[in-house]
Amino acid sequence: RVSATVSALLLDWYDRSARDLQWRARPGAPRPDPYRVWLSEVMLQQTTVAAVAPYFAGFVETWPTVEALAAAPEEEVMAAWAGLGYYSRARNLVKCARQVAEMGGFPRTEAELRKLPGLGDYTAAAVAAIAFGERAVVVDANVERVVARLFAIRDPLPAARKEIRAAADAITPDERAGDFAQAMMDLGATICSARDAKCLLCPLSGECRGRAEGDPLTLPVKAPK
Ligand code: ADE
Repeated sequence: RVSATVSALLLDWYDRSARDLQWRARPGAPRPDPYRVWLSEVMLQQTTVAAVAPYFAGFVETWPTVEALAAAPEEEVMAAWAGLGYYSRARNLVKCARQVAEMGGFPRTEAELRKLPGLGDYTAAAVAAIAFGERAVVVDANVERVVARLFAIRDPLPAARKEIRAAADAITPDERAGDFAQAMMDLGATICSARDAKCLLCPLSGECRGRAEGDPLTLPVKAPK
């Protein structure tokens, strides 16, 4: 592997500093419930953690399992979703729940998950890694920013996406890929943020080329519209 150091440092940081989010496994539990992982990742597609939290709590209280959600009338789910926005997510949520209930449970691989309604590249990889421990490469906007800075990738987005994905692949560990992905997202959300890179708090600062080259905040570069 290109950089075992990066994943080891990041996982160590995650063990100390992971955000306590409802859809994550409790400390000591092996893995979180795939239903909760899927539901949270769909809600988080275009919405912040803070905005998702009360909706997630309400959904799992009303519909504690994918079978319960599959049996719900679509209008009730749409009503519970009201305020979260991007309503095609809610329609796909119901479709997906019904398909999964029919199948007897969530498929366990990225490739199979990708075929479900509402699961794009990001969500399929996230669920495969977090719920099932597959070594999937999980890339969202936070991860893109962390990787672009870590490797000082200066090509503009969107053209740089291929290079960023390859670099993310190179640092994804064989074990704990789900924790690794969530650690990258936490790092991007809380430390390596868009306007304020808190390098003094960052577990990867010693490995970061963007920091070494002095201008992490300019990365990733976006192509002019
Ligand atoms: N954003 C989307 N999914 C997330 C997760 N599982 N942890 C932290 N941030 C996220």
